[in-house]
Amino acid sequence: MIQKKLEIVYKPFDKATRVPPGTTLFSAAHWIGLPIDSTCGGRGTCGKCKVQVLEGGAEVTTADRKQLRAVELEGGWRLSCQAKVYQDTTVTVPELLRVPKAATMGVNRLVLLDPNVRKVFVELSEPSLEDQRSDLERLRDALTAEGFDMKADLRHLRTLPVVLRDAGFKVTAVLGGDQLIAVEPGDQREASYGVAVDLGTTTVVGTLMNLKTGMAEAVRSTLNGQAPFGADVISRISHGMQGDEAKAELRDTVLRTINTILSELYESASVSRDRVYEMVIVGNATMLHLLLGIDATPISMMPFTPAFADPLYLRALDVGIDIHPGGYVQTLPVIGAYVGADIVAGVMATGLAREDKMRVFVDVGTNGEIVLGSVKRVLCTAAPAGPAFEGSQIRCGMRATEGAIEGVTLSDHVELQVIGGDIVPRGICGSGLVDTVAQLRLAGLLDVGGKMRSREEVPEHPLSDRLITVDGVRAFLLAENVYLTQRDVRELQFGKGSIATGIKVLMDVMGVSAADLDEVLLGGSFGSYLNPESAKIIGLVPAVDLDRILSVGNTAGEGAKMALLSFRERQVAFELPDKVEYVELSGRSDFNDSFVSVLQFPELEVVR
Ligand code: FES
Repeated sequence: MIQKKLEIVYKPFDKATRVPPGTTLFSAAHWIGLPIDSTCGGRGTCGKCKVQVLEGGAEVTTADRKQLRAVELEGGWRLSCQAKVYQDTTVTVPELLRVPKAATMGVNRLVLLDPNVRKVFVELSEPSLEDQRSDLERLRDALTAEGFDMKADLRHLRTLPVVLRDAGFKVTAVLGGDQLIAVEPGDQREASYGVAVDLGTTTVVGTLMNLKTGMAEAVRSTLNGQAPFGADVISRISHGMQGDEAKAELRDTVLRTINTILSELYESASVSRDRVYEMVIVGNATMLHLLLGIDATPISMMPFTPAFADPLYLRALDVGIDIHPGGYVQTLPVIGAYVGADIVAGVMATGLAREDKMRVFVDVGTNGEIVLGSVKRVLCTAAPAGPAFEGSQIRCGMRATEGAIEGVTLSDHVELQVIGGDIVPRGICGSGLVDTVAQLRLAGLLDVGGKMRSREEVPEHPLSDRLITVDGVRAFLLAENVYLTQRDVRELQFGKGSIATGIKVLMDVMGVSAADLDEVLLGGSFGSYLNPESAKIIGLVPAVDLDRILSVGNTAGEGAKMALLSFRERQVAFELPDKVEYVELSGRSDFNDSFVSVLQFPELEVVR
């Protein structure tokens, strides 16, 4: 059911937005690029985010009473971070007191540098017979005066008396939201780091971010150590079904992968892990379950339910992640069993749910995750694409590593682009596969139904000597011992057909056609390497002008970085599952009907 949206107008900018009931004035403003001042991260403790309600309304909250004076409350002033709206509302935003630092992230998105991790230097008054407040109270009072809430635990109490006294009561408190992470001697505000991790089924990418400058200090990526347990999420889940030991094995391997990346990051940037306070991690639902040691079996069975979908803020020590021992790990929410936190991060990075443009974002992999929409309405789905795009179950398929053919051009001869440069090709990776099929179509060697021509059928064709048979199956020879078979073409047709159908179903539900699409965004570790023209020729994406098909890179990692650098962006991510409507494809009759029609390749005059 679609909730009725409310209109919020911000004066004096005359900027308006439509949001679901229950959205705060603070978040809604951020969605439309109108940052309201804050130092507490929207927790209702700094009092900096106040706005004046002119029309409509917002209830007075406990935080309002604490932070605002009675006359202000009467005048309609509210803390925008606490003010949830349930009716159309107009407010005035006072002039910003400061211009926050910003960094460009994701797909040309400007992100305010406003991390959830804050370092606050405080000079506490020393205890005396007249002032016998406890150490904890002393610290809390000082932080409250600066506008911060603080929750401490036993671990801090054990060290607090010594740290305070050794440091002459001049300390830096490190907060993750309102959780105390550490108390460091002296003024340590300059050194503050976090890590953004894109936990992919195949590849894991970690970026060490400087939370003071917003810059990446180091990036590392490696294969997910779970690879020996299967290439896709279903085989990983099946391995986990063998019992607790197998589950522990999956968890241990992925932790080892992440912690190895971390130690490499620390070394290459010369940053101590004790200055790394937070990790934001995104991945599909299965990867997050396996990382946390949570049974993922129900994800693989009807009706496909994850154990959790909410964002989690967990102690790094409990998860087993090697950052500051008092640090935290933040996961982003998942939308459904097959539309995970990586896609939520992708939607953030592309700004798809915040702009007027009608766009479709496709993350191509063994599962094609598709998001379609604009600020007005967003739909998403997951289409099972099979392993073709990852290069597996393709006769000469391989991962996108050295020796893989990643690009192909056919004219009167064959031109190959091989990863690693001028070396002997060993196989074809996903992008090479898509290119080959597209080029075969253009060269007239593959018909609209996907049937490959034989040498006998086109004896005059300049490439006819490349048409061979392997074990009785037609094939096209790309290089010595590397060829594409008729069966491979069928695999690709299945994969692209599934994704193309997913896109079509979403477009039908939204009531838009290809002509209405402003942009088609190809993302994910595979999608970004696809040649947009080839994607269009094989009919993977709708037939829009080529300049409207964009490769957008590792959007999951970019979204994770955004959530690390800006608590506001993190909030946006938390709210996305409520904003995005999930469309289940299985069981839809239009899915099956369209599927048959999109297995074919488009006619060339349509895509050229
Ligand atoms: S009180 Fe700090 S952001 Fe609202």
